[in-house]
Amino acid sequence: MPLPALQKIERKIGRQLRILEFRKNVIERKIERQIRLFEQKRSGIGRKIEQQIKHFELKKGIRLDDEVRFIRSWIERPLSIGAVTPSGKMLARTMASYVDPNSTGPVVELGPGTGPVTEALVEAGVDPSRLVLVEFDPTFCRILRARYPEATLVQGDAYGMRRLLETLLLQPAAAMVSGLPLITKPLRMRLRLLRDAFDLMLPGAPFVQFTYSVASPLPKRMGGFSAEASERIWMNIPPARVWVYRKT
Ligand SMILES: C[S@@+](CC[C@H](N)C(=O)[O-])C[C@H]1O[C@@H](n2cnc3c(N)ncnc32)[C@H](O)[C@@H]1O
Repeated sequence: MPLPALQKIERKIGRQLRILEFRKNVIERKIERQIRLFEQKRSGIGRKIEQQIKHFELKKGIRLDDEVRFIRSWIERPLSIGAVTPSGKMLARTMASYVDPNSTGPVVELGPGTGPVTEALVEAGVDPSRLVLVEFDPTFCRILRARYPEATLVQGDAYGMRRLLETLLLQPAAAMVSGLPLITKPLRMRLRLLRDAFDLMLPGAPFVQFTYSVASPLPKRMGGFSAEASERIWMNIPPARVWVYRKT
């Protein structure tokens, strides 16, 4: 092919390439614009959802982020967490009502989770600096540390309370409040927990425990302690009952 014809084809291809490049830039700019619009809409929708969640939380008096954290922990370790949601206000208040805020000595809470019972204890007049919180879930521990900086937080296994608390408690505890899912443990372990708790508490001090089950998680027939039960709290999800055990 003669040189001028080749040069003509080259120029033609060059022109086509420039047109293609131009169109590509136009399309890229259009896509970028669409992405920016989408991002703006998405953050607008996100803000709306957040506002609606906050509104719902205020109306219902609950913290949904706690519920979400709780559900996450429950999915990871259902038997240890023992509940899908934190205790409701009514249950938490009933638990706290068995603790005398004017007593002396530490008040130990076993398995406080995100802290609904802790909150009820403080609301009932228990000084936060008296609280000793024993929780093994690290996420819950972070939440508790931020919410109750004056309380003593022990990240560990409540079933090892003898070792954990023996030297930490400077005087016998005035009460123990437990959210531990007791019935997932063998009876022998539950009874050892109660015996260890009594050893760390003032004589006659209450060991307060909630349960979703019909029967007492610590059978009275085992002897050595008294047991009294609250009414069933139907407002809680699921409905629960509070048991109070004292050494006799
Ligand atoms: C049923 S939830 C109750 C949480 C909270 N008290 C409430 O009423 O919402 C049980 C809690 O006990 C904690 N827990 C379970 N076994 C434990 C153990 N052996 N030692 C310390 N904490 C434990 C779980 O991580 C969880 O926070």
